[in-house]
Amino acid sequence: MDSLECIKTRQSIRKFTSDPVPEKDLRDLLDIARWSPSYKNSQPWNAVILSGAKKKELSKILVECLTGKKQNSPDLAAPVSWPAAEDKNIKNLMAKRMELTGVDLSAPEMIFKAKKANFNFYFAPHAIYLYQDASLSEWSLFDMGLFAQSLMLAAHAKGLASVPQAFATDYAKEVKEFLGIPASNRLILGLSVGYPDMESPVNAYRTERMEVEEFCTFLQ
Ligand SMILES: Cc1cc2nc3c(=O)[nH]c(=O)nc-3n(C[C@H](O)[C@H](O)[C@H](O)COP(=O)(O)O)c2cc1C
Repeated sequence: MDSLECIKTRQSIRKFTSDPVPEKDLRDLLDIARWSPSYKNSQPWNAVILSGAKKKELSKILVECLTGKKQNSPDLAAPVSWPAAEDKNIKNLMAKRMELTGVDLSAPEMIFKAKKANFNFYFAPHAIYLYQDASLSEWSLFDMGLFAQSLMLAAHAKGLASVPQAFATDYAKEVKEFLGIPASNRLILGLSVGYPDMESPVNAYRTERMEVEEFCTFLQ
């Protein structure tokens, strides 16, 4: 697969086979992602890869926080509102999902279900957490985004799949304690990683994108 095809065909995968990924292949993903650009080559990224019993243990802690209605404390606050253009895209996604699955993703019981699925890392065999020193500037968040995309593209190129999960950072304090990450760090993203189950209808839907003319101006 060439890099253009890789960018265009990567998609978030929410159902995985139970096959574990060899540690060497997981390591390779990080080995590729580390070549991402960053502000002054500061490389403001750290990662933890969770598999097996450790991953299950963390899922249990997170699901207990959810069912116990524990107040969440993400290091990056979830947006409370969106500007009109982005709001339109989000509403399009929700409507499309509703049309295809009959599920209203904004209903409270669905939010609970969605969070539970996220906390179980969609039953993927592996989870990856990305974090960085909390004193870093917004540019380092930008760099981490580039790193995360490289990681996801590397996974896709190697026949693996992933989904980036803000929800997985909901209980940042608990996650950091469990993973032994000092509180002086901010938890940026969780990702589920494994081999995609492409037979599952969950993975059948491809999200849409705005046309170039809708977000780009050509000046000369
Ligand atoms: C920063 C970020 C946070 C996200 N958080 C979640 C999440 O918590 N749970 C989830 O299932 N998907 C999450 N997603 C996946 C998006 O829903 C997905 O990328 C988007 O709908 C576009 O679909 P695609 O990745 O298949 O192209 C997140 C994506 C990004 C970039």
